[in-house]
Amino acid sequence: RRIDWTPMMAEKGGYKHFMHKEIWEQPRAIADTLRGRMLLSEGDVHFDTWNLAAEQVKSFTKVTILACGTSWHSGVAGKHMIESLARLPVEVELASEFRYRDPIVEKSHLVIAISQSGETADTLGAFKEAKRLGAHTLAICNVIGSAMTRESDLHILTNAGPEIGVASTKAFTTQLVTLYLLAVKLGRMRGTLSVEAAQEHLTQLTQVPKMIEDVLKCEPQVKRVAREFMNAQDFLFLGRGPMHPVALEGALKLKEISYIHAEGYAGGEMKHGPIALIDEKMPVVVLAPKHPHVAYEKIIGNIEEVRARGGKVIAVIDEDDAQADSLADHVIRIPAASALLAPVVATIPLQLLAYHVAEMRGNDVDQPRNLAKSVTVE
Ligand code: G6P
Repeated sequence: RRIDWTPMMAEKGGYKHFMHKEIWEQPRAIADTLRGRMLLSEGDVHFDTWNLAAEQVKSFTKVTILACGTSWHSGVAGKHMIESLARLPVEVELASEFRYRDPIVEKSHLVIAISQSGETADTLGAFKEAKRLGAHTLAICNVIGSAMTRESDLHILTNAGPEIGVASTKAFTTQLVTLYLLAVKLGRMRGTLSVEAAQEHLTQLTQVPKMIEDVLKCEPQVKRVAREFMNAQDFLFLGRGPMHPVALEGALKLKEISYIHAEGYAGGEMKHGPIALIDEKMPVVVLAPKHPHVAYEKIIGNIEEVRARGGKVIAVIDEDDAQADSLADHVIRIPAASALLAPVVATIPLQLLAYHVAEMRGNDVDQPRNLAKSVTVE
């Protein structure tokens, strides 16, 4: 009798790759991130590690987020969340850049390190430096007991469970949800969010796991898009506002595992360079959920500019959007979410696109060439 299953395959739960399994685990991972933290009736957020008094939170004058790679993208999305809900200015810094200049850090600054592993050398080094300069430090990590959780004044776990695929998926979306919870918490403590407003945000958060389940159903269609464009040489990803970090992340996922050159851009910057690249061979993924915050009308303008130059548009749009549908070559529909939560939902089809393109090209999806899961050298 032949044994078809190896222990490794069993760990993958029937999926061919860990990355694919981890993409599909996201509804559960996000539910685990939210569990026990939302106090709906009080309109508040509970983190069991929280140790900041309201006075201290009110005294913060600035937030600096330090991270690398995919975690840096979640930081860019987190900037939108914290600025919007807690009205605190947020700067998002590449940890490797922050370290080697003379950064302005003050005691009234909250410095947040975001890291799946909690061990990335650049992020850890920058974080230690911020602490030395007197900032209050908060680590958002997925690994309990990791260096960053030990070095910080306060840590919050993302609870995604172990992530094996080198290309980060569920760690990213659980970071986004954690940052959203943090933004609500800071907003409540600073008095910028009323109980009712916080309740509304938390209610929207409770709907995210179901939304991710729904958006995962786009996989067959994403696979068709992947098949059509698997031999493309370049890809462009465009998004505005909170969709900008999603465009960056979509491009990073694709280049990491498919080895296709991809760039993520803020839609408004297309005219300052990337438009020169557009021809009939160029697929452009446009993130166009219908929100004033993501400048919907302007991003529709981007779609028209790409089409006018023969580029192929793959648009990620709200379920009921007929306008974008009529303009794009391919549309991927996502459930309508609020502007700040749309990044969580819109990331899923881009993860699937990268996965299927890489898989169709026969690449080693879980262990892409030259990359490491955790980079512990500077
Ligand atoms: C490596 C991984 C990326 C990750 C980055 C930061 O480059 O391949 O997936 O985003 O490190 O890792 P961290 O553990 O700090 O989030």
